[in-house]
Amino acid sequence: MSYNVTEQDERKARDQTQKKLETIVPRELLPNGSYSPVPGIFDVAWKGLNDLPYFDFVKEMRQLDNGIIKDGGSWLSGLGDLYLKKELTLDQIRRYELHSFKFVDIYPISIIQNVFQNLQNREVRDLIIRHAGEEMGHSELEADFLEFGMGMTRQEIWDAPPLVQNYVTQGAESEDMTALRKESPELAYALVPFCERVVPNSTRLQGKGLREQYGLKDDVLGFFDLHTYIDIYHERFGAYIMAKYARSKRLQDIFHSALLERREILKDSVQAAYYALKLK
Ligand SMILES: [Fe+2]
Repeated sequence: MSYNVTEQDERKARDQTQKKLETIVPRELLPNGSYSPVPGIFDVAWKGLNDLPYFDFVKEMRQLDNGIIKDGGSWLSGLGDLYLKKELTLDQIRRYELHSFKFVDIYPISIIQNVFQNLQNREVRDLIIRHAGEEMGHSELEADFLEFGMGMTRQEIWDAPPLVQNYVTQGAESEDMTALRKESPELAYALVPFCERVVPNSTRLQGKGLREQYGLKDDVLGFFDLHTYIDIYHERFGAYIMAKYARSKRLQDIFHSALLERREILKDSVQAAYYALKLK
C-alpha cells in the first residue's frame, strides 16, 4: 500500500512532535529538528555566562578585543568605514567582496575540522557541528550579492582568484595555536567563534554604506543584514567555552597570545587586500 505524505501531515507532525519533545527534552528545538547545545544561548541579552567559573577571563578578553578593534580602524571593520564614506568605487567593493567570499566559502569546513579534536566532549562537539551548520550557505548569500548586486555570473564568482594569498588558508599554524590545540582543543575551537565578534559591526557599516552611498536595495543585501546579528550568537559559542574551560593561567595566556595573533592576521589580510585594490 502506498502512502503519500501531504502538506497537512508535515504541518501536523512537526507541530505535534515538537510539542511532545519539548516536554521531555529541555532543549530549544528548531524547525529542522536540531537543538541548541546550550539552552538559552540564542536568547536576546542572554545571561548564561555569568555563573560560569571563568567568566572574568571572557570579560577581560572582550575588553582587550574591543580596544584592538577600535585601534584597528578600517582594517578591523572590513573597510566598512570606507563604504560608509564612499571612499571605494563600486568596482573596488565588488573585488573586495569577491575576495571575502573566498574566506566565507571555506569557513564551515575550517570550523568542522575542530570536531575531530573534540569528539569526547559532547557539548563542545555539538557546538562545533551546530556552528559549522549555521555558517553553511553564507557564501551563497555573498554570491547573491555579487551576482544580483554587482552583475557577476556564478561561474565568474567561483573561478575568481583571491586578491591576495593568506597563509591562514594554507593550513600553517603558529606555535601558540599548536600549543592551544594540544593542551585545550576546546579553547582552540573557541577562539574561532570568539573572533567573529568583529563581524556585526563591519557588516552593519558595509550594509549601511551600500544602501546610503551606493543605492543598493534590501533584495541584494541579505549577507550583510544577516551578519549584523547572527555573529552575536557565534561569539557566545566561543565565550561560553572560554568561561567553562579556560581553567588555568597558562591556558588563558596562550589563548590571549593566539587572539592577538589572529587579530594581526586579520589586519594584515584586510590591509593587503586594500592595497591590492588600490593598485589596479
Ligand atoms: Fe558566524
